[in-house]
Amino acid sequence: MRTYLVTGGAGFIGSNYVLQLLQKDAEVLVLNVDKLTYAGNLENLRAIEGDKRHVFVQADICDPVRIAELFASYDIDYVVNFAAESHVDRSISDPQIFTQTNVLGTVNLLQCAREAWQVVGSAASADDRYRPGVRYLQVSTDEVYGSLGPEGFFTEQTPLDPHSPYAASKAAADLFVKAFGDTYRLPVNITRCSNNYGPFQFPEKLIPLMLNNALHHQALPVYGDGMQVRDWLYVEDHCKAIDLVLEGGVPGEVYNIGGHNERTNIQIVKGILSYVGEKVDRSVDERLIEHVTDRKGHDRRYGIDPTKIGEALGWRPQTAFEDGIVRTIQWYLDNQDWVAGVTSGAYRDYYKRMYGAR
Ligand code: NAD
Ligand code: TYD
Repeated sequence: MRTYLVTGGAGFIGSNYVLQLLQKDAEVLVLNVDKLTYAGNLENLRAIEGDKRHVFVQADICDPVRIAELFASYDIDYVVNFAAESHVDRSISDPQIFTQTNVLGTVNLLQCAREAWQVVGSAASADDRYRPGVRYLQVSTDEVYGSLGPEGFFTEQTPLDPHSPYAASKAAADLFVKAFGDTYRLPVNITRCSNNYGPFQFPEKLIPLMLNNALHHQALPVYGDGMQVRDWLYVEDHCKAIDLVLEGGVPGEVYNIGGHNERTNIQIVKGILSYVGEKVDRSVDERLIEHVTDRKGHDRRYGIDPTKIGEALGWRPQTAFEDGIVRTIQWYLDNQDWVAGVTSGAYRDYYKRMYGAR
């Protein structure tokens, strides 16, 4: 039986990962460590309530005592670090918490894993040795590579060139992961994926925000000309890729995850409006689009070259965007209670701060 320490498992991708893992693997124990910030929501895990294979622990990944205690209490085989502050716009208005969680939290996890996994006595010798089979996987982002022109893709060799405070914090964390691999030979991997979409995504991100506004006849705030390009990846496909890397990735290697699914933001927004107009509410149409002031330092285009993970581990995205987006919209339509829960109170203040003054 494998024991996973999954951090950020009450957030968007982390909760999808935990649900998928428990569905796939009967013989597993998942320690789910989440601070439950605005982005973490135990409702996401309702389907596994009472499942003995899942232990939820409300804790901060920056807390050395709590994290070390977990390593002391369980024989953890895998760490999958999803926990992060994840929203670029928030990082522009409040960069410090991004350094705290994304950088210092990652270093704390690495240090705790190193201490717990090290074979006793090896620290004194030239070679650090670790319990066989253990692995630390850092969930990173294509945003660490910066922005592309109209041509070309990010490969694992593309130099890091982050622009937003969010991307800078993720790049800094990646470098610490690499350093723990290079210096202490800790068995690590970094995965860098493109923009995810699917169930349980907090409606501050493009797709759920635009859908929610369309359903409530509110303006859809498109930054600048809306011609920025993102490479969309269905969240379940991303989670499958993470498992493949954990099981078969070469220690120390980086794997890019993306599916050649590039769309301009305006295409996405128009697609959502046309679906809602056709299937839900005939009065909804493109008149709701409002071009607003562009994001500061807005990256123009992201595009991933997934050749390495395809050739090395046989990963291919299985969900065509046309299917994934319909599944996603339908999930939100079927789960309006979830949306109402996460968009109450603090969300409304946030939305007013971000978009109210325009
Ligand atoms: P999210 O914001 O939905 O979830 C983050 C989770 O981390 C939340 O449950 C939150 O409570 C938890 N968390 C935050 N700070 C914490 C702390 N200090 N200690 C413990 N838990 C904490 O994010 P997401 O979209 O699910 O992203 C997950 C990971 O994937 C992040 O590392 C992000 O950088 C990366 N990523 C996301 C995308 C995307 O499109 N969403 C793309 C590329 C990479
Ligand atoms: P987002 O979902 O925040 O992800 P990221 O910034 O990590 O790519 O944004 C996706 C794209 O959508 C990005 O180019 C910014 C744009 N966007 C808008 O135009 N309006 C919005 O209200 C939001 C949230 C994003």
